Amino acid sequence: MQEAVVSGSVFSVRKFLAALLILVAIGSGDAQAHQPVVLLDTDTSAAKGPLLVDGTVSFAIRASFTKKAQKKAFRGQFNAGDALTVQYLIADKKPENTLLTSALPVLVITSPTGKSVTVKMTERTKFHEPFSRTNYLYLARYSAVAQGGIYSFTITSKGKAHITVAVGDKEIFGAILRGAAPTPTPTPTPTPTPTPTITGYTMAQVKANSSTKNCWAVVDGYVYNLTNWINSHPGGSGAIVSLCGTDATAAFKSKHENQNRPAQTLDSYKLGPLQK
Ligand code: HEM
Repeated sequence: MQEAVVSGSVFSVRKFLAALLILVAIGSGDAQAHQPVVLLDTDTSAAKGPLLVDGTVSFAIRASFTKKAQKKAFRGQFNAGDALTVQYLIADKKPENTLLTSALPVLVITSPTGKSVTVKMTERTKFHEPFSRTNYLYLARYSAVAQGGIYSFTITSKGKAHITVAVGDKEIFGAILRGAAPTPTPTPTPTPTPTPTITGYTMAQVKANSSTKNCWAVVDGYVYNLTNWINSHPGGSGAIVSLCGTDATAAFKSKHENQNRPAQTLDSYKLGPLQK
């Protein structure tokens, strides 16, 4: 994975906070900003946490911890070559800004192929967000060229803390998937709006992943990411490639109906339900 720490401007984060506040003020659910996502106490692993369906769309992930060794995690999906941009932020106020870097939660990003990077906190750059009159501190800005697939972001606490992880820079409305609607917990200002949650993937999203680099398919009303299965399928890669971007229910059943192993394999690639 290529990686580089960028000396990015504060502009995009300012812009998202400004837009976020306007959004809160007008009460609209149609975000044109870093959409706030509050990690729940049950989001203890990437698999349990929310999935940002397009990791290039801007999201502000808020994580609060009450003691050390707590874990909160989420996932973000990227196409190969996408920009993976991540910023680690805290409010520039007590007690957050009095914590030493070594007392702040650790953010680890794991690529689809399992390579992990611990985000290094190399700065404490102040910026003032004028709309909420809140001061923030950037502790890290990380950017890389993404591999295709799902990245995991795991945050492990060292003690009580509130942090924000900003992911993505495309300021358009994006979808997140999770089992339960998030309950807002106390976080730094601005107060997050409830996260827009949708109940599944669309067929349009499945069709947009019809290549061998990003191969999604539907079986029985669920969406699967079969990309990593293409070259492992005992029945040949061609059988899987032909399913990419399609509803593969009939093809799967005609070959593997009532077979345990194919059903288990399929299950391990499940992304979530297809929207009805
Ligand atoms: C989502 C799609 C699929 C998954 C997850 C899947 C999974 C599997 C698995 C796990 C096996 C090994 C079975 C075992 O060792 O007991 C297998 C074998 C095989 N699959 Fe698939 N498969 C899929 C689709 C297909 C399709 C569409 C075809 C054909 C059109 C196909 C043809 C075969 C063949 C020929 C074998 C070789 C062994 C056998 O005949 O059972 N598969 N598949």
